[in-house]
Amino acid sequence: MVTRDGCPVAVYRAMDPEPTLTDVRRFLGDRQTVLDLGSGAGRIANPLTREGRIVTAVDDSSEMLAHVVGARTICTPIANLALTERFESVLLLSHLINSKDPLPLVQSASSHLTPDGVLVIERFAPGRSWNPSVRNSGPVTIRLSDIVRDGDRIQAVTTYELKGAAWPQTWELWERNDAEVTRLLYEAGLTALHLEGQWVIAGRRQRNDGS
Ligand SMILES: C[S@@+](CC[C@H](N)C(=O)[O-])C[C@H]1O[C@@H](n2cnc3c(N)ncnc32)[C@H](O)[C@@H]1O
Repeated sequence: MVTRDGCPVAVYRAMDPEPTLTDVRRFLGDRQTVLDLGSGAGRIANPLTREGRIVTAVDDSSEMLAHVVGARTICTPIANLALTERFESVLLLSHLINSKDPLPLVQSASSHLTPDGVLVIERFAPGRSWNPSVRNSGPVTIRLSDIVRDGDRIQAVTTYELKGAAWPQTWELWERNDAEVTRLLYEAGLTALHLEGQWVIAGRRQRNDGS
């Protein structure tokens, strides 16, 4: 089973949550409520739930959400999410901010944050080099190939290998530098609190910080 955006469910179940999980924990601190947007199979949501946080996992793939354990699950496109409750932390991981039109995703994240909540965004680090590569995540081998760059647009193939099976996923993304991310955040009522390579930490913009 592969999601609408080409992610193989079996692979995302098997992939190691690290090193992402350690970074996410560092940014969450002791915040208890977590909204994980594009949670997939719970690679990050499941361990956060196990350590006692109250997690809501959102994805538009019911096949992915079937593997989320202990957290509340909501099957919907992120842009359509309209909960009345607010969360101390919101996760927008897995480079969803590098998709073609990320503003609705960031707006959804923003609208679900408490006034002093943090939004944790994972992007491709600006200026990273794009070369064919092979790496492992748990039992999964991940090969990057067929890379084509056109300005800030990158197209490539990621092939996931697990237990003798292979899933090639052709994707495209748009690099987002600090200025572009800052503009996106501003349009969504947010401000950058911390920019660190692949990580963007944001909070709601207050009336006295230039808005
Ligand atoms: C690359 S997987 C990563 C899953 C998880 N964040 C992780 O780190 O393991 C991306 C997930 O985001 C979901 N997704 C992508 N775009 C989405 C959207 N607009 N609304 C809801 N889910 C989305 C896909 O269905 C997929 O499960």
